[in-house]
Amino acid sequence: MANRKYIVGNWKMNGLREQLSDIVEIAAIAEQNSQVDVAICPPVTLIAQAAGNVPGFTIGAQDCHFAAKGAHTGCLSAAMIREAGAKMSILGHSERRADQHEVDSEIKAKAEAIHTAGLGAIICVGETEEERDAGKAVDVVCGQLEGSFPDNAAATWLTIAYEPVWAIGTGRVPEASDVEEMHAAIRGKLVELTGEGADAVRILYGGSMNGGNAAELLSVPNVDGGLVGGASLTAEKFGPIIKAAAAI
Ligand code: PGA
Repeated sequence: MANRKYIVGNWKMNGLREQLSDIVEIAAIAEQNSQVDVAICPPVTLIAQAAGNVPGFTIGAQDCHFAAKGAHTGCLSAAMIREAGAKMSILGHSERRADQHEVDSEIKAKAEAIHTAGLGAIICVGETEEERDAGKAVDVVCGQLEGSFPDNAAATWLTIAYEPVWAIGTGRVPEASDVEEMHAAIRGKLVELTGEGADAVRILYGGSMNGGNAAELLSVPNVDGGLVGGASLTAEKFGPIIKAAAAI
């Protein structure tokens, strides 16, 4: 049986209070398309208010620390984002792997902390353009997956997002056949890592997904949803992606 589609908006470092109305509108569209799971991950500053405005809708975070508490200036624990109202968190996004030098072992520890706090996690993996050109894309992505894969992984709380770095924010999208090959490789790796429950772990595609290309990308075998950046910032742009997922 196919997995329920999961469409997640990653607002990155975008959004002030005035953008909260878009989350209310997005939640309303999600409610009308209830065969799809939808979430928005706004900046931490908006989590509590967003979660308060739309109680039935999933608000997530974009990161958390692996430690439960302590001397980590500027960081937030999983319990803190949970208390703010987050139900899940994106972890190991390529922008954090690049800008904050996050490594696989740290992302694995973060995922375990998130699970301990009772939240869901989306672990991001993806190759650079150089790695793809060198024919190493599958090896790089499967290596990241293995290295950042948490103990006690289960589809009830864990999702994987494949995001080719060169497709993020660029308007460039891989060929459907390349997405299919990579998602099949990730599925194979999940089988190796978790055995029987692997088919139920959702694998999202991310990187320049929009209302125009969502239907095609979301129809690729083993693509169980999308992680969307730029096109998730307004209800006008994100709504068509949710509807495309609902129509599949
Ligand atoms: P994009 O970002 O949709 O703006 O390409 C996706 C992501 O980085 O999650």
